[in-house]
Amino acid sequence: MYNKILITGGCGFIGSCLIRSLSKNNDIEILNIDNLTYAANINATQVTNKTNYQLIKADISKSNEIKDIFTNFQPDAVFHLAAETHVDRSIDGPSSFIETNILGTYNLLNESLSYWKNLDTKNKKNFRFIHISTDEVYGSLGQNDQPFIEDNNYKPNSPYSASKASADHLVRAWYQTYKLPLIITNTSNNYGPWQFPEKLIPLTINKCLKREKIPVFGDGKQIRDWIRVEDHVKGLLQVLDKGIIGEKYNIGSNCEIENIEVINSICNILNEILPLKNFSYNELINFVEDRPGHDFRYAIDSSKMKELGWKPIFSWEEGIKDTVEWYLNNKNYLNLNEKKYSGERLGKL
Ligand SMILES: NC(=O)c1ccc[n+]([C@@H]2O[C@H](COP(=O)([O-])OP(=O)(O)OC[C@H]3O[C@@H](n4cnc5c(N)ncnc54)[C@H](O)[C@@H]3O)[C@@H](O)[C@H]2O)c1
Repeated sequence: MYNKILITGGCGFIGSCLIRSLSKNNDIEILNIDNLTYAANINATQVTNKTNYQLIKADISKSNEIKDIFTNFQPDAVFHLAAETHVDRSIDGPSSFIETNILGTYNLLNESLSYWKNLDTKNKKNFRFIHISTDEVYGSLGQNDQPFIEDNNYKPNSPYSASKASADHLVRAWYQTYKLPLIITNTSNNYGPWQFPEKLIPLTINKCLKREKIPVFGDGKQIRDWIRVEDHVKGLLQVLDKGIIGEKYNIGSNCEIENIEVINSICNILNEILPLKNFSYNELINFVEDRPGHDFRYAIDSSKMKELGWKPIFSWEEGIKDTVEWYLNNKNYLNLNEKKYSGERLGKL
C-alpha cells in the first residue's frame, strides 16, 4: 500500500487524470510537482479535498528544489510524467526537450537515489519509481510488422522520441547500476478529456467548432494505436501495485487507426450531435505538407500488462464519442488554451 505519492507533471493531460483517480482515496497523500509550462492546467486535477493534495511549482531539472521536495515529503512512490511532449514543437525547438526529458529525468533519478539510499530497510524495499514513456521510442513499423514488444530495439526518429529514449536508458541504468526500484512503462497515443488542444483529437474538435480547415499531415494514412487516458492510468496503478522492479511494460489497447480515420470519426460524431444545415464537418479536412521524420505506424503489444491482471475498458467508438462530448461541454477549455497556442507548426515543412 502506498500512502505518499509524488507525481511529476501532474497538471498535464495524463498526470491530471492520475491525480483525479488517486485523490478519491483519502488515505493517499499526493504531491504534484509541475513547473506549469504552456501545457499545464491546474484545474484539470479537479481536486476537491485539498487535505490530501498539494501542488508545488518546481522544475524537475533543478536539483536543490527537488532534493528539498524529497526530504520534506518523504514519498513512498514516484510517478514521473513531467516532460515536453509535442513532436512538432521538438522539431522547431529541441533544447527544452533535452533539458526536461533527459536532464530533468537524470536529476530526478539522482535525487531519488540519494533519498532512497537513506531510507530504512522496510521503506527502501517498499519504494517504487514509475517512469512513464512512449511507444515512439521503438521507431516506426511497416504495415505488416508485429506490434512493439518490450524487448524491441530503440529506434527513435524525432527529437521528442530521442529525448524519451535517452531518459528510458538512464532509468534502466539507474536500476542496473544502483538498484533503485524502477519500472518503465511505454504507452501509445492517449486520448480523453483535458488534453492540450495542439494534439490531434482536441485540435480537430476545435477546428470543427470554429469551422476552420483541419490540417492533416501528408496523406493522413499514418497509423497510431489509441488508448483512453483512464485505461492508461488504471494500468499505471496496476504497475505500481503488481509490477516487477527493473521490468518494462507496454500499455496500449490494441486499437490501431489511421489519422484520417480518427478525424473522420470526429467529424461524423459532430455531424450527428451538432448538425449544421447543408454542411458536413468532413468538408473541413485539408491535407498539408507532411512533417519531417513522420513515423508511419505505431502499434503496441500489451500482453505483459495482461499478466498483471490489467485490461482496457473503453472501446474506441464509446471512448471517442464521450471525448467529443466532453470537449463540447467544456468549450471554455479549448478557448482558454487557444490563447497559448495558435497551431504555429502545422503545415510547415
Ligand atoms: N499523451 C500521450 O499520448 C502520451 C503517449 C505516450 C507517452 N506519454 C508520456 O506521458 C507523460 C505525460 O504526457 P502528457 O500528455 O500528460 O503531457 P503534457 O504535455 O500534457 O503535460 C506535461 C506536464 O509536464 C509539466 N512539465 C514540463 N516540463 C517540466 C519540468 N521541467 N518540470 C516540471 N514539470 C514539467 C508541464 O507543465 C505539464 O503539466 C510524458 O512523459 C509523455 O512523454 C504521453
